Amino acid sequence: MKISFAKPALPTEGALAVGVLADRKLTATAALIDEKMGGALTRAMNAGKFEGKAEQTLVLLAPSGLEVARVLLVGLGKPEEIDAAKAEAFGGSAVAALMGGDAHVTLAIDPIEGCSLFPAEIAARAALGARLRAWRFDKYMTKEKKEDKPALKKLQIVLDDHAAAKKHHQSLDCVAEGVLLTRALVSEPANVIFPESLAAEARKLAEDGIEIEVLGEKQMRKLGMGSLLGVAQGSDREPQLVVMRWMGSADRDKAPVAFVGKGVTFDSGGISIKPAGGMEDMKWDMGGAGVVIGLMKALAGRKAKVNAVGVVGLVENMPSGTAQRPGDVVTSMSGQTIEVINTDAEGRLVLADAMWFCQDRFKPSFMVDLATLTGAIVVSLGNEYAGLFSPDDLLAERLTAAGKTVGEPLWRMPLGDAYDKQLKSDIADMKNVGGREGGSITAAQFLKRFTNDVPWAHLDIAGTTWSKKDTATVPKGATAFGLRLLDRMVADHYEDA
Ligand code: BES
Ligand code: MN
Ligand code: ZN
Repeated sequence: MKISFAKPALPTEGALAVGVLADRKLTATAALIDEKMGGALTRAMNAGKFEGKAEQTLVLLAPSGLEVARVLLVGLGKPEEIDAAKAEAFGGSAVAALMGGDAHVTLAIDPIEGCSLFPAEIAARAALGARLRAWRFDKYMTKEKKEDKPALKKLQIVLDDHAAAKKHHQSLDCVAEGVLLTRALVSEPANVIFPESLAAEARKLAEDGIEIEVLGEKQMRKLGMGSLLGVAQGSDREPQLVVMRWMGSADRDKAPVAFVGKGVTFDSGGISIKPAGGMEDMKWDMGGAGVVIGLMKALAGRKAKVNAVGVVGLVENMPSGTAQRPGDVVTSMSGQTIEVINTDAEGRLVLADAMWFCQDRFKPSFMVDLATLTGAIVVSLGNEYAGLFSPDDLLAERLTAAGKTVGEPLWRMPLGDAYDKQLKSDIADMKNVGGREGGSITAAQFLKRFTNDVPWAHLDIAGTTWSKKDTATVPKGATAFGLRLLDRMVADHYEDA
């Protein structure tokens, strides 16, 4: 889908989407076409029980008095409640309703009295929402009929201040690029995306100005990463540690911000093997790594004035004759030893070395890890909020606030010594599981032992990485949850003035 911005004009082909405010209050373009249609738009709203609530839509076919094939009414809700997310939902809902049938869609943006956003901002946000919603992963659908494929080719957004909208959209579109890269990587099956092929995808970011380094098994062995390597040893696929650096600050010596991702390209559970039902979902157990890769692309794309490091630990967790056994003791890069009680609690073993490496090598100002870490967080929070764990109140507040603005909400969970005690082992410094009680919290406590007290936050995205339903801007499937919130937090607090 190609997106362009132009000055207001009624289109002569395809579909026209217009906004309608709460209580059926028409925007200027909606009023204009209602007049041309002899009041049929108003009659249709009444007949279709369309009230103008946010995300509500109504299609009018072959409207007489107009040249377009369809008119779509999109509810905008109350003017004072229109924020960035609502503007994105405007674009997302419009393309969701029209992408099946129309090759050309025109979206009209009018000034809205009582709304805090300028039309240019609404337009740019609507374009972002449209792009995020129109994406689909259909590369393996070789038999899909043409009429079942989305028809939408061109989205034109019309408003007076189209030049400002276009400019504003450019930086938002870099974030969309990152999101779509993440979604594509996370959607790929595990026979296509495995540690080396995912590292190869990350290497492509060199084109965006990101410095890339890839460590293989040998180099990790040298660094003493026995925890990560223990997970990888049952697989024929070589593990990889990918380090990405975007040096966007004017001061190259400024301490970077750091993001660490769990990249288990397939999690069978290992010898503590998972049940067959739903195991296919474990192709997206690299969701955290996917977000970190996409985030680096987004930051570089919009030339963020920040030094940022992304580290992803890539492994496949498989059962085999060489696989790690329950009861094995491994030594992590930090020197701490771990008794592996359950080989399915592998994400924390990967992150233990990736995080220790990250803080040791880069001395970051903070470190945020993202991981599809526990089934328990899905029990706690379902699929709406991701779990946030951090001993650092300021970092936790900033993450929560950013998540709220971009529609990636976080819920802060507790940490504490009493939970940490659940990790006590009879043979090693710790064991890798803390029992059923508070499973997400003990997982976070485990990670905390590998932060070396650098300001740190952990996002457990097991419930939010994959969506079973469509929302206004996120179609079902891979969501890239976490990317927009981290990009937003960087933009709000960590870039050069
Ligand atoms: N990747 C899983 C967690 C997961 C579960 C992600 C469901 C997405 C959806 C993780 O590696 C895992 O297996 N965790 C175990 C930990 C347990 C053995 C302590 C779990 O949650 O059951
Ligand atoms: Mn597991
Ligand atoms: Zn896992």
